[in-house]
Amino acid sequence: MSNLLEVKNLRLEFYTRRGVYKVLNDVKLSLKRGEVLGLAGESGSGKSTLGLAIIGLVAENAIIVSGEVLFDGHGNLIKSAIWSDSKFKIKKGRKLIKQLHKQLLHIRGKEMSMVFQDPMSSLNPLLKIGYQIAEVVYYHNPKLLAQRALARSKVTKQEMREIIDLLKTSEESNLVSYLSQKGLDGLYEQIMSIWQRTNLSEVKRERMLLSLANGGISALEKLVLEGVIKERKIFDLPIVRRYKKKILVKEGVRKAVELLSQLGVPHPEKVVEMYPHELSGGMRQRVVIAIALANNPKLVIMDEPTSALDVTIQAQVLELVKRLKNFGSSIIFISHDLSVLAEVADRIAIMYAGSIVEVGETEQIINSPKHPYTVALLAAVPTLSDKEIKGIEGETPDLRNPPSGCAFHPRCPFAMEICRLKKPELTVLDGNREVACFLFGGKK
Ligand SMILES: Nc1ncnc2c1ncn2[C@@H]1O[C@H](COP(=O)(O)OP(=O)(O)O)[C@@H](O)[C@H]1O
Ligand code: SF4
Ligand SMILES: [Mg+2]
Repeated sequence: MSNLLEVKNLRLEFYTRRGVYKVLNDVKLSLKRGEVLGLAGESGSGKSTLGLAIIGLVAENAIIVSGEVLFDGHGNLIKSAIWSDSKFKIKKGRKLIKQLHKQLLHIRGKEMSMVFQDPMSSLNPLLKIGYQIAEVVYYHNPKLLAQRALARSKVTKQEMREIIDLLKTSEESNLVSYLSQKGLDGLYEQIMSIWQRTNLSEVKRERMLLSLANGGISALEKLVLEGVIKERKIFDLPIVRRYKKKILVKEGVRKAVELLSQLGVPHPEKVVEMYPHELSGGMRQRVVIAIALANNPKLVIMDEPTSALDVTIQAQVLELVKRLKNFGSSIIFISHDLSVLAEVADRIAIMYAGSIVEVGETEQIINSPKHPYTVALLAAVPTLSDKEIKGIEGETPDLRNPPSGCAFHPRCPFAMEICRLKKPELTVLDGNREVACFLFGGKK
């Protein structure tokens, strides 16, 4: 199957008063559909910058010097800008970054989303949790909300019984075609969120499913919901818009309850009525993950999502990330901690000074690292190292003036003459593993 995401030769620089920082240096990376890719490296290696560049949230003082970000048939999301005169670079670069932000508005939050380290920074302290989850669906996918409410008002008890029979005896695809024939597509996620609650007895789940058929709505509500589906302009007029938003957000809160319950949040009906400060750190991070997942994005980028949490809560969130695969999203999980990635990732990419230096299956990276930097990084992880723990010797490079050739050469115990002169390229080593080091080919 084709890759969901491909980053090709991405180079990004930050312009500051102290100089130009070359933060991404020819990044090459691909992400398969449905996989969790871990991204590791010391602090300052460019992990967050890469995550933000993929989702198009690039700081205004950045220049994308070259490269492509290819995402799920959208073509290149980034247009690079190369100028010889640095004054022009900043000005034109800013214009391009603004264009980029605008272009990606309809993709961000819908097809790709991001979870940051501090959940409080992503939540509005003044709004209820349910509203905050509902609003992202309202903004990107109002039709889905209208379809959900209309489908409940349309479906009969008899049809619900037939649906329950299908769930018990047949493939999911048969349910999908049944719903589509009857024009009840809006019921699909509501049905599945109940049916997948295997902690409830079958009798209870059946009762909950049957109660979906009680969704009577007023004639006015029906008119508005149908108008949303048909994209009638009249419902964008200020006087009707407020009413439209009210009924769609109410439906969004219903979806929020389903999402939180799927994410293992106890008492989701109560949680949607709460404000962020009333929740624990772990619970807040689940809410942020729920917001990131609300529109079933194809890609979720998680930047150190567990670093601000204490250990037991961290374990809960990691369990949750493992379960996220059931939502059909691919995940880039950024962490400076390889022991965290060992738990959740299918593959791991190691970043050093803005380049990927090794990438492979998690098992390959953890049990038989090849690149000297990966070896050093692993030796510095207390829980993964059976030997004495060693910090990585030497300083992280100054990205204004990075070392020539292999950026790791000043710290590498195996450095050779060629390492100072040329930059090694990622080269396939064994199976799916690629390494950028002259000890292992590193061509050129
Ligand atoms: N907007 C910015 N302007 C200038 N430098 C920045 C900016 N954002 C990040 N940097 C620098 O880029 C480097 C990489 O940062 P970052 O991507 O946050 O690394 P990581 O997430 O791996 O810790 C750091 O040296 C950081 O100081
Ligand atoms: S290319 Fe050379 S300096 Fe770089 S990691 Fe390999 S051996 Fe060390
Ligand atoms: Mg970071």
